[in-house]
Amino acid sequence: MASETMTNVPVHVSMIMDGNGRWAKERGKERVFGHFEGVESVRACVEAAVEAGVKYLSIYAFSEENWNRPQEEVLALMGLMVKAMAAEMEKLNANGVRFMVVGNRKRLDDELNKTIDECMAMTAHNDTLTLIVFLSYSGKWDILNAAKKMAQEIVAHPERAEEIMSMGVDGFDVYLATAGIPDPDLIVRTSGECRLSNYLLWQGAYSELLFVDTLWPDFRKEEFRAALEHYSKRDRRYGKVK
Ligand code: FPP
Repeated sequence: MASETMTNVPVHVSMIMDGNGRWAKERGKERVFGHFEGVESVRACVEAAVEAGVKYLSIYAFSEENWNRPQEEVLALMGLMVKAMAAEMEKLNANGVRFMVVGNRKRLDDELNKTIDECMAMTAHNDTLTLIVFLSYSGKWDILNAAKKMAQEIVAHPERAEEIMSMGVDGFDVYLATAGIPDPDLIVRTSGECRLSNYLLWQGAYSELLFVDTLWPDFRKEEFRAALEHYSKRDRRYGKVK
């Protein structure tokens, strides 16, 4: 659906991509096969987001907890990220997509970090859509890190302690890994699981949540558009009375 025909388009849509392993198992294949197919769903959602006029699309690609998966699967996923980024970047750039990675990059290997840096530099000037890959990310990690940064600033500038401590919620946002990125309007989780799994705990405070049964590799353009349709019917009150 083109942006002209859809009302109330969310600025930022975020996806908790779940169900790759089950999708593969249903087909008698290795879990990694589901992750490969999941990249196709990411591509489809990027296209649908651009068509609908969504400005930020983010994906929860790997949580801090995912490091505890079998080493073989972790390595396969990291390899897949490098491959997917390298393969898609020219096309993303040509379509005006700005690429970003948010998360604990200290835990990523050099090859992946180098690929991420190249992709971010290549697409930094684009503004049609910002695609954010949350990688080695968790909400609690982000909030704790932000609190540490705030404390460090107070230690470095004791004369500003009062000013820093009296900053409101918006003032704290600047310490988060997502600084500068608007909070998600809509968070979609696939595969029938109804939880946030340590994702965007601060930023998702007022996000609309949508849980769908579709497994991530089956979540394509049509499903993305249906999610936007659901969102367009939501009544967001932010705790107020309308
Ligand atoms: C969840 O399914 C999926 C993941 C943990 C990884 C998803 C990552 C990608 C699709 C790669 C995208 C990367 C780029 C850079 C485009 P699961 O394994 O938890 O599935 P299950 O719940 O059925 O076991």
